[in-house]
Amino acid sequence: MSETLTLRRPDDWHLHLRDGAMLAAVLPETARHFARAIIMPNLVPPVVRGVDAAAYRDRIMAALPEGMAFEPLMTLYLTEDTDSDDVAAAHARGLVKAVKLYPAGATTNSASGVANFDKVRGVLERMADIGLPLCVHGEVTDADIDIFDREAVFIDRVLDPIRQNTPGLRVVMEHITTSVAADYVRSASENLGATITTHHLVINRNHILAGGIKPHYYCLPVAKRETHRLALVAAATSGDSRFFLGTDSAPHTDANKLLPCGCAGCFTATNTVSILAEVFERADALDRLEAFTSLNGPAFYRLPVNADSITLTKGHPVSYPKKIATGDGNVTVFDPGFDLHWHVA
Ligand code: DOR
Ligand code: ZN
Repeated sequence: MSETLTLRRPDDWHLHLRDGAMLAAVLPETARHFARAIIMPNLVPPVVRGVDAAAYRDRIMAALPEGMAFEPLMTLYLTEDTDSDDVAAAHARGLVKAVKLYPAGATTNSASGVANFDKVRGVLERMADIGLPLCVHGEVTDADIDIFDREAVFIDRVLDPIRQNTPGLRVVMEHITTSVAADYVRSASENLGATITTHHLVINRNHILAGGIKPHYYCLPVAKRETHRLALVAAATSGDSRFFLGTDSAPHTDANKLLPCGCAGCFTATNTVSILAEVFERADALDRLEAFTSLNGPAFYRLPVNADSITLTKGHPVSYPKKIATGDGNVTVFDPGFDLHWHVA
């Protein structure tokens, strides 16, 4: 008898689908395994108003191949000019499930993000009133702060003050990369949750930098030292409902990754579920995988869990494409550096 594992169908609480030819190529990679995903709004131009989110949702649904089911959970990109009435209206009609805060300059297409956090206090208060979560890219952008310290400094200088000033606001600290962030989430009220990516459970900074630079492992927040990776594995596999999967699968063409100044992002949509099963099995926590992929996220977002399920079977090494061809060029699939044995049926 081969070993099998059945999970309620997973959701991805942090995903980049892009637009146009890239969207068409990467959407099936997610929709094959995931029922829903929180869709990041960092397009060019960004998804700022409800009308932008509605149009983007329509483009996503138009790109979905016949016979596949998928529900995009839309977000709005917070700017210093965001109109709280527009946000509230988009939330009231069920169109958006979160607002995304990018500190200006923190990452890909974040130039329209927030530099002066006082300017968004009104919007955040409105979101607290209506129960709309804020997703946060948790890094300061100050040139004098070391890139490996930017998450921890963000918690002290930005996130904690926002949470103190707006106590009712529900916040997701996205793609946490440090034990500092995991501890902060554990110490906070149930209003704070965190997503953890697939790649941050697998790589540390040596994978990026030792023995030659590996652009396909470069993402933001950048992977930290091994002790932090272990803390993330402990958080993800703990069953604690405040931690859930947000892959941050972020496709860039190889041409844009392999540049003197290459783009940040790991593309993990294709093999995420198999990688996670391997990570959880190694941590002797396969029985907690479903909480991480399928239960904790819906609980935080106050959405029902998915009705259907997926089944994984353990066997010979899983084969998956090394690259996904898109109309814009090839996208390299994340290489975890070890064989995967859990096949998704
Ligand atoms: O690595 C990343 N890629 N981190 C982000 O925050 C953004 C993302 C992207 O859009 O490419
Ligand atoms: Zn992201």
